[in-house]
Amino acid sequence: MRINSPKLNIIYKACLKASKSLIRDFGEIEKLQVSSKGPGDFVSSADKRTEKIIIEELLKVNPDYGILSEEAGKINDNNKNNRWIIDPIDGTSNFLNGIPQFSISVGYEENGEILCGIIFDPIKNELFFAEKGKGSFLNNSRIRVSKKKKLVDSILGTGGPKFNSQNKEKIFNEYLNISKKINTPIRKFGSASLDLAYVACGRLDGFWQRELNYWDIAAGIVIVKESGGFIDFFDSEEASGDKKNVVSTNSVIHQELIELFKKKY
Ligand code: IPD
Ligand code: CA
Ligand code: CA
Repeated sequence: MRINSPKLNIIYKACLKASKSLIRDFGEIEKLQVSSKGPGDFVSSADKRTEKIIIEELLKVNPDYGILSEEAGKINDNNKNNRWIIDPIDGTSNFLNGIPQFSISVGYEENGEILCGIIFDPIKNELFFAEKGKGSFLNNSRIRVSKKKKLVDSILGTGGPKFNSQNKEKIFNEYLNISKKINTPIRKFGSASLDLAYVACGRLDGFWQRELNYWDIAAGIVIVKESGGFIDFFDSEEASGDKKNVVSTNSVIHQELIELFKKKY
C-alpha cells in the first residue's frame, strides 16, 4: 500500500482475508440462481461470513475498540473514541444477482471523525483507500476528483429510494428534476460506497442519495475528502433515525447541485 499507516494495514489485512471467501461465494451465486430456492439465504450467510472474518481480524489487534457493523450491530459500545465502521457487502442486490459491483467497506473513526478507510471491490481488484492528510489512492495511484465545472456536463450517481421508504414520491421527483439539469442519464450502480469511491477518482462528478446508513458511507467520507472532493449531509431533520441524506461532488459543482435539494417536491 502506498500509505504507510498502521490502521490502514489492519483494515487491509482484514479486507483481503474476507475477500477470499467472498470471491468464492460470488462464484457459487451463478449456480444458485438457477436453483428453485434462489440465492437469498446463501447471500445472507455470505454477508455474515464476510463480516465475521473482518470483525475477528480487527478485534485480534484491538480487542477493546468499538465496532459498528451492518449485520452484527454494535460491539464494545462503551468505546466511543476508537471505532471501526463496517459494511461487509455493500451492493448486496448486485451480489445476489451475480452483478460484479459490490464492495467491502471499512472506516476507522476516532472521536467521531473518520480518519481512514478502505473500499475494496474484490472482483475488479480495486482497492480505494485514504488516510486523513495523506491523500486518496486507487491501488498504487493517487486519485483526484474530476475537474468538471458545470452540473450540466456532469455524470452523477444515485441510488434508492429503498423499497420501504416513506419518501418514495419525493425521491423520484427529485431524481427527475436533477436528471433534467444534466446531459447524461443518472447512473444507479447499486453500491453507495463504490459510488463515493468513483467520485473520488473522477469517474463520477457527483453522487447523492437520501436515507443512507453510516456504514454505507463511513470509509467513503475520508476517501472523497482526501481526493479533493466534498461530502455533506442535507435535510438532516427529514432523515429518519440514524439515516443520512448524502451529497458528494468534485467540490466545483457542489453549490449548483445542493441548490436542487432546497426545492420542495
Ligand atoms: C445498499 C447499497 C445501495 C444503496 C442502498 C444501500 P447494502 O447497501 O449501498 O447502493 O442504494 O441504499 O442500502 O444493503 O447493499 O449494504
Ligand atoms: Ca450498504
Ligand atoms: Ca451491506
